[in-house]
Amino acid sequence: MMSEQQPVPQQNYQASASETAADPSSPTNTTHFGFKTVAHDEKVSLVANVFHSVAAKYDVMNDLMSLGIHRLWKRFTIDCSGVRPGQHVLDLAGGTGDLTALFSRRVGPSGKVVLADINASMLNVGKDKLRDLGLVQNISYVQANAEALPFADNTFDIITIAFGLRNVTDKDAALRSMFRVLKPGGRLLVLEFSKPTEAWLSKVYDAYSFKLLPVMGQLVANDRESYQYLAESIRMHPDQDTLKQMMEQAGFAQTSYHNLTGGIVALHRGYKF
Ligand SMILES: C[S@@+](CC[C@H](N)C(=O)[O-])C[C@H]1O[C@@H](n2cnc3c(N)ncnc32)[C@H](O)[C@@H]1O
Repeated sequence: MMSEQQPVPQQNYQASASETAADPSSPTNTTHFGFKTVAHDEKVSLVANVFHSVAAKYDVMNDLMSLGIHRLWKRFTIDCSGVRPGQHVLDLAGGTGDLTALFSRRVGPSGKVVLADINASMLNVGKDKLRDLGLVQNISYVQANAEALPFADNTFDIITIAFGLRNVTDKDAALRSMFRVLKPGGRLLVLEFSKPTEAWLSKVYDAYSFKLLPVMGQLVANDRESYQYLAESIRMHPDQDTLKQMMEQAGFAQTSYHNLTGGIVALHRGYKF
């Protein structure tokens, strides 16, 4: 099930000394991997396996699972980012680079987009796709953990993390790290699955997620478990108001969120002042 992509060369960046992940040897150091409780370091390798496994079929599955609606959510994110020519953007957990492609065109030749992801297989698929689209000039690729970003303080005008935060072990550390590398006046946009606002929608969505999704994963990507994890990880992710609070605790101001598709997805926004 593992992708046979070549690894992306690791760049020699240094995380800030204050950004170290939690001590994995601590006996209380457990977290969720979907509905399972696992050790912190175990989650990192389980998530890595999921994305190594799905990388090659990731884009096809995204279109299939969302009936193409993920493209609208992503376009809405770009519109809410207020991105302008010449700006520096970090597409964190950027995977196969959908947002990077949209940002690359908006920032133009004087701007810069960094596609950062912890997973070499996802980065490689993204790099190939963006090169095929002729997008090379203003994009760079960095293999990095969101919890300890290898960039200097105050580097980016805009940071996005789309469908990525859910998979990060220490979400608070990741939000603090994003806050640090954002320029004063800059904005963070978190696009993520969230909590449906209507009970009937929750029921339909649960049936879809737990019955249909793993079967689709099996048929298209030959990988039922990764899509079972997707459904479970969505349920374990903080709801709209909790995530907003977490962003505030990390230092973000003027935080707000916008529900999309009845709250199946939410776009959170916050500023660094
Ligand atoms: C569901 S994909 C989203 C990809 C892309 N942003 C999109 O919207 O299509 C989640 C991505 O998060 C990445 N990821 C998971 N944990 C991460 C971490 N700790 N740091 C950086 N990236 C991470 C995965 O490797 C994967 O590429």
